[in-house]
Amino acid sequence: MTTTPRLIPTLPGRLYTSPEFFAREQEAIFESLWFCAVRCSELASPGAFRTVMIGRENILIVRHGDGGLRAFLNVCRHRGARLCTEEAGEVRRTLRCPYHAWSYDLDGALVAAPHLARMPDLDRAGYGLRPVALREWLGYAWLCLADEPPPFEESVPGAAAERLGEAAAIDRYRAEDLAVGRRIRYDVRANWKLIVENFMECYHCPTIHPELTAVLPEFARGYAAQSSVGHGAAFAEGARGFTVDGGAGFGRLPELAAEQDRRYYAITVRPQVFINLVPDHVIVHRMFPTAHDRTVVECDWLYSPEVIESGVDLSRSVELFHRVNVQDFAACEMTQPGMGSRAYRAGGVLVPSEHHIGAFHGWVRERVGAEAAPPGSESDTP
Ligand code: FES
Ligand code: FE
Repeated sequence: MTTTPRLIPTLPGRLYTSPEFFAREQEAIFESLWFCAVRCSELASPGAFRTVMIGRENILIVRHGDGGLRAFLNVCRHRGARLCTEEAGEVRRTLRCPYHAWSYDLDGALVAAPHLARMPDLDRAGYGLRPVALREWLGYAWLCLADEPPPFEESVPGAAAERLGEAAAIDRYRAEDLAVGRRIRYDVRANWKLIVENFMECYHCPTIHPELTAVLPEFARGYAAQSSVGHGAAFAEGARGFTVDGGAGFGRLPELAAEQDRRYYAITVRPQVFINLVPDHVIVHRMFPTAHDRTVVECDWLYSPEVIESGVDLSRSVELFHRVNVQDFAACEMTQPGMGSRAYRAGGVLVPSEHHIGAFHGWVRERVGAEAAPPGSESDTP
């Protein structure tokens, strides 16, 4: 009989420090898979737009007059100028290039250009903006730059269904109808994979998360709820809500099943989204990896619109996971320099309660390339 070893290897340190490997990840992961880009409610009226980096591409997302969203590569088809230079804004009917004034409608079609009448052979249909695949889920716009995107249902809602044991479980939170009560942006000096790995395990919980383990006592044992299908961590008996001091939250979202009450569920949707479900709100993390050693994380706390409109104080509710974020990201930043050390050349180890992180490592290796290492990097390290 074979037994699973208690310690299994991690990825080698260079995969967290190499700009070349990060470039390969951008191509094989962020520019190839579904990427959660913006909250749809940020684009309220026709003409409202947001721009966002996905991998190495800048993407323009705009609200169309028909109420839907459209996404395009934010690159003018004339000489390549960035069409919308702001992070957010609003246009009337057309997107007009700031360089020579080619104009596109909100479907991306080229509709006007100076002296167009003198260029009768210009095939306007051939010079529209390059579209990007877009789907809406949980109230976010998910984009995919691939020519042939992977099946959305399977890769995105499917990840939540796999974790929770049924597809309907997440739908009961009605995240698409919730409102953003608070958004905090964290600039984390760490490789994005360290942030994913940290989110997947709870071995660190008793050491760095005193407030979280007070509300979720099973986390003090160091076992991650994410490793067992359908399991949610139960609130402490004395905790009235998912708040920094265990005080009352805002009741329970109306469609939740009884077994979802007083429980916390964490879900990782690869490559860049974490979803946290508690009875009265939903917390969504979106990672925007900007370099091999830097990741911007945008975290939204979503509540029912009635809670937000009532003007009630959200601070104790937000504070719990904000502290968790600060504690987690400090841990990731503490780890990043070690990735470049000769001590970590062959990597580290995963203890049994972290073994499921090995599946994430296998996934990275598979996506980026079997050897998962930039050539020559091993021998280059002193
Ligand atoms: Fe956009 Fe010339 S580059 S109009
Ligand atoms: Fe943590």
